[in-house]
Amino acid sequence: MPAPKPLVIAVDGPAASGKGTIARALAKHFGLPHLDTGTLYRAVALHLLRWGGDPESEFAALRACDEIAGLADDPELRSEAVGGIASRISAYPMVRQALLQRQQNFAEQPGGAVLDGRDIGTVIAPDATAKLFVTASPEVRAERRLAELLARGLHAHLADVLIDIRARDERDSHRSAAPLARADDALLLDTSALDRDSAVAQAVRLVERKIKAESQPA
Ligand code: DC
Repeated sequence: MPAPKPLVIAVDGPAASGKGTIARALAKHFGLPHLDTGTLYRAVALHLLRWGGDPESEFAALRACDEIAGLADDPELRSEAVGGIASRISAYPMVRQALLQRQQNFAEQPGGAVLDGRDIGTVIAPDATAKLFVTASPEVRAERRLAELLARGLHAHLADVLIDIRARDERDSHRSAAPLARADDALLLDTSALDRDSAVAQAVRLVERKIKAESQPA
């Protein structure tokens, strides 16, 4: 009998949709390693910001891809400034190419993995066992992002956060290189009306159902 395929779960969705929380919870539930791929783009952005690299230059951003070791846990990664630059530099095809292999290596490790981002189900792991596309209305996402910022002691206004969320959606969805898109076989999970625990429970149910369907003989 052939060995069972490793369990690979792809979680995609727009900013503040809850995909990170869901991906972490799925990783814990299924005992899998997890990669938040946005962290890679944020690390490139942080390097540019710290060293005065020009985010308008694709070559400067490409060079920064070789300088991200040690930045994965930097608290500044989560700042809005870094998120804004990350959204810009992630549109560069050379940057996406430079970060592709390490994401694919993570997805292909023998024991399986959970990855979250924008192009996991479409580009990084198109053969993933289960793909979730997590979304929520821009208004709900703005409220969540505002709560996060306030909890970190930062000042922000809901209207500004909403403008920022919409601008980021626009950039992430309309860039030509690997835009944010729902894979044809991704299961949709709208978290607008769900609290954290219900969203996680629903995600686990969807993945378990997919695993069961995969294991049934055709
Ligand atoms: O998920 P996040 O907000 O941490 O991601 C930051 C930016 O990185 C986001 O605006 C788009 C980009 N990104 C991407 O293009 N592809 C991914 N797989 C993950 C993130």
